[in-house]
Amino acid sequence: MNARKKVGVLISGRGSNLAALIEACRGDDYPAEIAIVISNRPGAEGLELASAAGIAAIIIDHKASANREIFESRIGDALVKAGVELVCCAGFMRLLTESFVASWHDRILNIHPSLLPSYRGLDPHERVLRDGGRISGCSVHFMRAEMDSGPIVAQAAVPVLSDDTPDRLAARVLKAEHMIYPLALKLVAGGRVQVLEERVVFKDHETATPPLISPWPCDQDMCARTALEGNHPHQCRD
Ligand code: GRF
Repeated sequence: MNARKKVGVLISGRGSNLAALIEACRGDDYPAEIAIVISNRPGAEGLELASAAGIAAIIIDHKASANREIFESRIGDALVKAGVELVCCAGFMRLLTESFVASWHDRILNIHPSLLPSYRGLDPHERVLRDGGRISGCSVHFMRAEMDSGPIVAQAAVPVLSDDTPDRLAARVLKAEHMIYPLALKLVAGGRVQVLEERVVFKDHETATPPLISPWPCDQDMCARTALEGNHPHQCRD
């Protein structure tokens, strides 16, 4: 296997996406390894996860830097010193400046809990529920200077249920985040992704997956599987 790409993960809190990435990096054939975890918040729980996994974990507190440029130059220096080639923002709650993002162009990934380009920014689950959406989800994308924008590498669609609260929907979406972030990093670190005209193009074969329909109509008259796959014996009711 080629050398694994060295990854720096930026966090601000809980670190459950970081945990999913750490777990993925344990795989023998996984093309990335986490070289450093940086938190802008001293108490971030993710710092302990990283240390427990034997990964260098440091705090660069934005409040201890006189301005954004100084804060970001400290982050940049730490990443370079650790030999980082790819950066993953995983619940990192600071907006990065245009010049920082440009200096890591197509080498910074971010995860956002909505189906981008819809619901950029804060509180996406509240807004999805308010708007009555039936399907939400999450996206991993290359970062650009505008918040939650940039070429999309991977997305997962998640059904919205009638009795959802923002927290319940967030928990369902989070499970999907833990699947797609390791997948997206695998594709990018493995060199299988190209950005062409601000769209992600895959260098190898892509497989079409079935649509996610919510609610899933599986009664005799309106069976989604019948519509999608031809005759279906309606076992989906059981
Ligand atoms: C995730 O929902 C992520 O998409 C968003 O912030 C949350 C971070 O969660 N940007 P965690 O720290 O990875 O558990």
